[in-house]
Amino acid sequence: MSRTLDMLLQNMSEKNATLLTHSINVAKLSMVIAKNMGMDEEFYYTAGLLHDVGKLLIPNALLDKSIPIGQEEQQILKNHSYWGAEMLKVMGFEEFYTTTLRHHDDMPDLPLSVQIVAIADKFEAMTSLWRQYRKAMTAKEAIGKLKDMGIFSPVIIQALENSQKEFVIKDNRALG
Ligand SMILES: [Fe+2]
Ligand SMILES: [Fe+2]
Repeated sequence: MSRTLDMLLQNMSEKNATLLTHSINVAKLSMVIAKNMGMDEEFYYTAGLLHDVGKLLIPNALLDKSIPIGQEEQQILKNHSYWGAEMLKVMGFEEFYTTTLRHHDDMPDLPLSVQIVAIADKFEAMTSLWRQYRKAMTAKEAIGKLKDMGIFSPVIIQALENSQKEFVIKDNRALG
């Protein structure tokens, strides 16, 4: 792992433990989806690890805030995708620019690479307990919800479903 990547992870762990846990879970989930699809596992692990790196620029008071979140605060939170992508560009990680920039885009025809990270991200958020304001879903419920959204490729959702043996849902929590 490169020193820059190491440093970013160190920053994430020092800033906010939940951010690090979420990023590692999304990295693992992106990797198992990619593995199941015969794609580059290492690329997707790193893409998952870095997707929320822009949150380093958002105050913890806002990151950890439960709903309701005001409109202005929502806008600040939303910026993390753009800020993260720009940070990665400056640091020489251009290959992860698009997955980071677009991981919250809810629209059909997103590039496959973005969809893999976005599905891993949504699945992690739905099944984890760290979102205290909402009850965690089971893996089955989360996969059903991803299907219902109708914006993601069924092939990727299937890959997530197929790779369930490779991640553990413990007490409703993906990858413990
Ligand atoms: Fe995000
Ligand atoms: Fe995320």
